Amino acid sequence: MSAPQHPIHLQGVSLESIAQEFGTPIYVYDGEKIVSQIKALQTAFATVPLKIKYATKALSNISILKLVKKAGEGVDAVSIEEVRICMLAGFAASEIMYTPSGVNFREVQEAVELGVMVNLDSISLMEEFGEVYGNTKPACIRINPHIMAGGNAKISVGHIQSKFGISIQQLHEILEVVEKYKIKIVGLHIHTGSDILDAEIFLRGGNVLFEAAINFPDLTFLDFGGGFKVAYKSGDPSTDIAEVGAKVSAAFNEFCEKYGRKLELWIEPGKFLVSESGYLIVETNMVKKTPQITFVGVDSGLNHLIRPMMYDAYHDVYNLSNPEGQPHPYNVVGYICETDTLAKDRMLSSVSKGNLLVFKNAGAYGISMSSNYNSRLRPAEVLVWEGKAHLIRKREQFEDLIKNQVVLDI
Ligand code: LLP
Repeated sequence: MSAPQHPIHLQGVSLESIAQEFGTPIYVYDGEKIVSQIKALQTAFATVPLKIKYATKALSNISILKLVKKAGEGVDAVSIEEVRICMLAGFAASEIMYTPSGVNFREVQEAVELGVMVNLDSISLMEEFGEVYGNTKPACIRINPHIMAGGNAKISVGHIQSKFGISIQQLHEILEVVEKYKIKIVGLHIHTGSDILDAEIFLRGGNVLFEAAINFPDLTFLDFGGGFKVAYKSGDPSTDIAEVGAKVSAAFNEFCEKYGRKLELWIEPGKFLVSESGYLIVETNMVKKTPQITFVGVDSGLNHLIRPMMYDAYHDVYNLSNPEGQPHPYNVVGYICETDTLAKDRMLSSVSKGNLLVFKNAGAYGISMSSNYNSRLRPAEVLVWEGKAHLIRKREQFEDLIKNQVVLDI
């Protein structure tokens, strides 16, 4: 049975009761949905030794990470702080891939000393790594495959002008540095972008990996990165994960024959695992009619959900308090002193002050990209798990906001 378009319950727990118990604004996640997304990937890639390395940056709450751990999968971390959070969630160092971008070598060393494998993102980092560790620590190399793909320019990261990875055209330099320091390269990695629909893009990425891989005799895995697209509105296409799994696995198995050894296939989904599991519930503070537009002001804004502002992202929104009301067009706006339009020109069932609105697809890059702009507090988070609502992050308090300020005696 497919999920209702505008859920009022998650696992039998009403969203309204969650808002009443824990207040608004609040992020709510459906743990069952995360587990079912993991299973969908495991099924789609059933013919290869798959390892999911969940992209922690999408949603890094420790309880969410524990669900991934419980499902037997690993994580990708992009900062030493994410590495530490993953360890707190119970991941062994060996289950964590560390994919930094342009960080100080001290941070890389910190990760290596913890036993975490590093994904080397530049020739200069390879040099530093080789100087210090030689062949004593296994490493991965992030290749820039020169593929233009992704939902918008900001999240297309595998093209020739992107800062990420080492250009595939610099393969000879990579090989020289590997040879110079005898670095033990056990994996090659690409991440082409986010919101990628087409299976062909993952296959093209795979071909770049395969061509490069033949030069590295010690590989144990190839990492295809993340980027599977999810649906943001009804009728919106999402990546056909069964098709990607079947096509990529077939090509991968064929490559392994040629390579002469069975490798692991790694993927790093963020959105695919958590986007649709998440809901941001807000309360309406005002309804303002102007000669042209009816605005609904809510107790949230770009400080809690920046995706609409940053990427023109579309987040479906519905009126939980009045599901049967007469539909009207509204602009849903935040309380931040910026033009923080969260949803433009949307048909919502008649909204009045005090209604609860729900933003969908709020699981990925929602709270993890939130801020304290306008000195506003971050929301609480709730995980619905085994039919119960659990608070997994307390709402920030005013004291949290100022606790690190050092006030001068002026
Ligand atoms: N692996 C690496 C190395 C990445 O940089 C990313 C995302 C992923 C995996 C996961 O990609 P996903 O499966 O979530 O598409 N904040 C943007 C998305 C930026 C993604 C950055 N890297 C958004 O909200 O659309």
